[in-house]
Amino acid sequence: MKTTLRVSFAATVLVAMTGCAAPGFLDLRAPVAVSGNADAGAQKAAVCTACHGPNGVSPIPTFPNIAGQKADYLYWQLVEFQRKVKPDSPMTAIVAGLSDTDLRDLAAHFAAQTPAPASGDANAFADGARLYREGDPARGFVPCQGCHGANADGNVGGGEARYRAYPSLRGQHSPYLVQRLQDFRNDKYALSSNDHIMHGVTQALDDQAIAQVAGWLQAAPP
Ligand code: HEC
Ligand code: HEC
Repeated sequence: MKTTLRVSFAATVLVAMTGCAAPGFLDLRAPVAVSGNADAGAQKAAVCTACHGPNGVSPIPTFPNIAGQKADYLYWQLVEFQRKVKPDSPMTAIVAGLSDTDLRDLAAHFAAQTPAPASGDANAFADGARLYREGDPARGFVPCQGCHGANADGNVGGGEARYRAYPSLRGQHSPYLVQRLQDFRNDKYALSSNDHIMHGVTQALDDQAIAQVAGWLQAAPP
């Protein structure tokens, strides 16, 4: 009885928070841990390499690196593509025929790959480093590290469930990051509670701030 009450209360809060409960909307405020078989995932990953590189480091700077990304984040992104709630993406067709086990195995496989190394001159992005670490309260910029980790590797909250699907950003291609941040700002995604978080975060950011923080993340020293 207690559990039921708590669940329906959570649902009410979520509806109030989002203003609507679109079908397929994901509540990722305390997702269960995702597990998959990385070896099985490796067998299924051939189709991914054309765009994400043989080991998940993408040769195309507008396509994301997925090597070393957190498995929980990878899995939930794949679920969103599969539900066709993410707009205009080559990913939609790719995941259409995959099972839930496939998605878990692929997530486990790419999470186990070596992340892309930093590239670029971090010194050219001192403003981006400051925004990442400290934000700028006067301009409404919140620090990114509170949710993406001091090292931008997505490890925050000591394993607390609500941080499970928070992504690593370190070494990601800057052009991809710029596009994603602009898309969050423009409310292109409203697919999960985590999208709503990033929509809020990006509202105050202008294009210059976005370019700075994205440049720093690609070039950030470990
Ligand atoms: C035809 C090119 C293409 C292929 C093949 C492809 N992807 Fe993607 N993938 C993309 C692009 C482009 C994006 C980013 C665009 C977007 O978000 O809509 C993306 C985004 C992703 C993301 C989200 C990453 C993030 O940081 O949010 C994941 C996870 C992913 N792909 C996994 C896979 C897996 C696993 C496969 C193989 C089963 C695969 N992709 C095959 C082009 C491709
Ligand atoms: C309150 C927590 C929080 C803060 C603060 C925050 N983020 Fe996020 N961020 C998230 C969550 C949760 C997601 C996952 C969204 C999703 O599932 O698509 C995310 C996703 C992202 C992504 C998409 C990554 C990918 O691979 O596609 C980028 C880029 C990003 N954040 C950049 C930033 C930057 C830059 C800042 C600081 C200006 C920031 N975030 C501050 C929680 C936060």
